[in-house]
Amino acid sequence: RVDLRVGAAVADAAPELWGLFIEDLNDALDGGLNAELVRNGDFEFAPTDREGFHPLTGWTVEGAAAVATDDPLHPNNLHYATLTGPAAITNEGWDGIGATEGQHLRLVVFARTVTPVRLGVQLGDLAETELEVEAGGWQRLETDLTATATGRGELRLSVPDGAAVDIDAVSLRPLGADGEPLTFRPDLLAALQDLKPSFIRFPGGCLAHGHGLDNIYHWKHSVGPRHERVHARNTWNYHQSRQIGYTEYFELCEATGATAIPIVAAGVCCQNSPGGQHAIPESEMDAYIQDVLDLVEYANGGTDTPWGAKRAEHGHPEPYGLRYLGLGNEDQITPDFRDRSARIEDALRAAHPEIIVIGTSGPMTSGADYDAGWAYARERGLPIVDEHGYQSPRWLQQNLDRYAAYDTAGPKVYLGEYGSWSSKIRSALAEAAYMIGLERNPVVRLASYAPLLARVGHSQWTPDLIYFTAEDVRLTAPYYVQRAFAAERGERIHEVELEGAQPVARELPKEGAVAVKSNRAAIAFSDITIDGNPICDARTGPGGDGVVLAQIDPTATELSFTAVRESGTDGFGIRLGPADPHTHIRVDFAPWQNKNT
Ligand code: AHR
Repeated sequence: RVDLRVGAAVADAAPELWGLFIEDLNDALDGGLNAELVRNGDFEFAPTDREGFHPLTGWTVEGAAAVATDDPLHPNNLHYATLTGPAAITNEGWDGIGATEGQHLRLVVFARTVTPVRLGVQLGDLAETELEVEAGGWQRLETDLTATATGRGELRLSVPDGAAVDIDAVSLRPLGADGEPLTFRPDLLAALQDLKPSFIRFPGGCLAHGHGLDNIYHWKHSVGPRHERVHARNTWNYHQSRQIGYTEYFELCEATGATAIPIVAAGVCCQNSPGGQHAIPESEMDAYIQDVLDLVEYANGGTDTPWGAKRAEHGHPEPYGLRYLGLGNEDQITPDFRDRSARIEDALRAAHPEIIVIGTSGPMTSGADYDAGWAYARERGLPIVDEHGYQSPRWLQQNLDRYAAYDTAGPKVYLGEYGSWSSKIRSALAEAAYMIGLERNPVVRLASYAPLLARVGHSQWTPDLIYFTAEDVRLTAPYYVQRAFAAERGERIHEVELEGAQPVARELPKEGAVAVKSNRAAIAFSDITIDGNPICDARTGPGGDGVVLAQIDPTATELSFTAVRESGTDGFGIRLGPADPHTHIRVDFAPWQNKNT
């Protein structure tokens, strides 16, 4: 028998603890949360996004159809398709374009022609119509389609013999109840709403500080008319249309009742970029700092301010009420970082003392980078630091009290990315236990599981919280844990006494254990079995400490596991303790999932 006695309240719980982190990874946005059904409607896919990509990726061509760039729709939307009839281009969508009987969809096309043309439109066997293109320059055409059946189709645009037309910015979106095209895919939006997030951090992760200076996410590139936005290579090896840009992120926050936490690059790009970390050149720093200040104005300024007026022009006259802004992501604390980050922070503090600036540290498995990030945050007096930790279920269970050791007088913690290395029930339980540890240490103010969304068959990272296909949403066990914690939030932290419980303390002996260590790669080990008996999954971080996989019974004869390289460039070593000379090791290498190559 165990008696549990709840004592006095000792502290208030963090009121905004549970939130979301959303990054365009695993086709989370285009082909995911973005309600757009056409893939590469702007013809801007490029080999620099991913080897093999080109402006007609996602399209098949019949007859004389090509890509041109002269006199484009917009300088940011350089490529367009030219069709000389008889010709057609057909878009495959994201694994097809699905519609249900009676569903209304809005087609928007920009077109240009010298002599009037009737543009044929077909959505497989589900709908068909025509658009009149008048002679002249670029014109925006739109029509609504109604699906006559439920199914999947492809979007075909065709011109008859003798006709010629230029086409760009093709979009097909389902209509919402208000008769307007949807911004977010409804079932995915509902799954996010059910998590009742206090906040949403966006747009990344690695994506925020970019893979190279030219790849830093500039928020101004992601607002305004969709066909004028600046497309970009996605850090995760694909293309970002930025159709879900800052305006939509703020909208998503409103739709889920969350407060926005934008993350901007701290004046440097990711240290995993070719040639390492680079700093924004001195000549561009003032403009960059101004961009960050403009972001606050875009979010909070009155409509009589230049960027507040832009927000109104983009459909939202009321301020968004921005309170937080994150600077950097897992950056190495180099002299360049110190210089650039401090100047941005100083400017923010001077112009917007009301904004809470969130600092960054290297991942908790990174050792020196983690320590350096925290030391820098203390030195600068930052109010809160974003730290990340993807770990095995075992690690989580062994570190329930991690935050009890944190200095409550120093910067508070935003655990911006965490998750345990498998989506199995065991992970969900370990995360739940760990989350209780987060709850009862109010030095942790904010926490968000990562990654959030993954299209089945298109993920660069495993595990993820919510999987989806074109038709359905697959919630994981960790999703239900997140949902339960967010639904039943604690208000106060109480002392609890347990009587009759026996503490369980076990140490893995060094001998007879198998341990792994990686140098510059993060490796996930799963499906670990000893003589066919499963044991927990594990993960090493780049340059991190070795991980003890398991104690090996001297009578065991076979240890087996799958190792997947998640990031980094190096391999790993396996060390067996001396007491297991007869153990046979089999290593099954899953295909490397290197995010950068
Ligand atoms: O969540 C995936 C990645 O993990 C994030 O982009 C980065 O911050 C972390 O290393």
